[in-house]
Amino acid sequence: MTESYIQNLFAERIGGKQYGKSTAIYKFAKIKAAKRAALAANPGAEIIDMGVGEPDAMAFPEVVAELHKEAQKPENRGYSDNGDAVLKEAAARYLDRVCGVRGINPETEVIHSIGSKAALSILPAVLINPGDYVLMTTPGYPVFGTHAKYYGGLVHNLALTEANRFLPDLDAVSADVLSKAKVLVINYPNNPTGASATPEFFAKVVEFARRNRIVVIHDAAYAALVFEGKPLSFLATPGAKEVGIELHSTSKSFNMTGWRCGFVAGNELLVKAYGDVKDNSDSGQFLAIQHAAGYCLDHPEITEKIAAKYSRRMDALVAALRGAGFSAIKPKGSFFLYVTAPKAAVKKDGTRVQFKTAEEISQWLITEKLISTVPWDDAGAYLRFSVTFVAKDQADENRVLAELGRRLGEVRFEF
Ligand SMILES: Cc1ncc(COP(=O)(O)O)c(C=O)c1O
Repeated sequence: MTESYIQNLFAERIGGKQYGKSTAIYKFAKIKAAKRAALAANPGAEIIDMGVGEPDAMAFPEVVAELHKEAQKPENRGYSDNGDAVLKEAAARYLDRVCGVRGINPETEVIHSIGSKAALSILPAVLINPGDYVLMTTPGYPVFGTHAKYYGGLVHNLALTEANRFLPDLDAVSADVLSKAKVLVINYPNNPTGASATPEFFAKVVEFARRNRIVVIHDAAYAALVFEGKPLSFLATPGAKEVGIELHSTSKSFNMTGWRCGFVAGNELLVKAYGDVKDNSDSGQFLAIQHAAGYCLDHPEITEKIAAKYSRRMDALVAALRGAGFSAIKPKGSFFLYVTAPKAAVKKDGTRVQFKTAEEISQWLITEKLISTVPWDDAGAYLRFSVTFVAKDQADENRVLAELGRRLGEVRFEF
């Protein structure tokens, strides 16, 4: 077959003429393929899927009712552009009541997003010129960095390690990188490590940003999913609004991943510039969805119920993994449990299987034990277990976790 001339037209940022020709298979595609193969080899068997990165449950009925009500209003039907006052005001109230962030001006310091992912893909256009550096944590959610590179920017990775409680070591960034760095992207509670920030760390980030004239983008996608105490907002740090913005989302906090709604808040200049680029990228989220999201922000007890479920599941998951020899420590928030990957598994008959990477054990767990996890080899070898696995009710939840423990208990892991 002759190749379409279109093949020669692709932009270099997505591979140019080579676009689509790479045979490399990415992590999540490998996981999917291994799950398909495991099911084909074990027809009817149950895969315990601990790899899911989104809530297992629906939005709460009262939120769906709110959407239904708002969707029937003719005035909500059209382009919403950068949104009306409803979500903005609810966001300012939410930041105040739930996160202790005082004095956010809903008119000038908040604009909605069609999810944090969309905001992270828009914001590089606001800040990145060719040659500018972005400081990103690794392992992490790569979207800002991907788009920064599209604009000719460079990503400098800051490793998240156990020794630093999965907080980046800002003092280790070289003067050369700092002189070209424009943005620091952080995310707490963190995906995938499950780590939480501290007020002291955030204070250090503000000081670091001021000293080096850097913008801070705090991706707070999991901020409200905490197992004890109140959510910790970067914006609650003295001086934070002078250096950055925070991205909130209803996706994880209110079981609304498919609804696509969040907000960007903080520094007025940055929010304005985000709005200007956003205006040239999308025409705003459906107002009925924005209004239902606003309803959620005024009902943080919904998130508390979701977090209580994750906390309960997390306790049982930690116990099951500890029983199998993993050194699992319950995180303070998010729905992720990040554990050191075993180096080997020894079967009852003495056969020993060795794993050089987290990806190897993750593949082995799917194939041999029908347990799906997400491997991370970016800063040490780790497995990410998510408590958003599917279970009908609490009894089923216990059954799934007991079964996980049983399957893992069939071998002895070496670390
Ligand atoms: C760290 C992080 N940021 C942002 C997102 C995207 O969230 P949203 O659904 O608001 O686009 C995710 C989703 O997995 C995430 O893990």
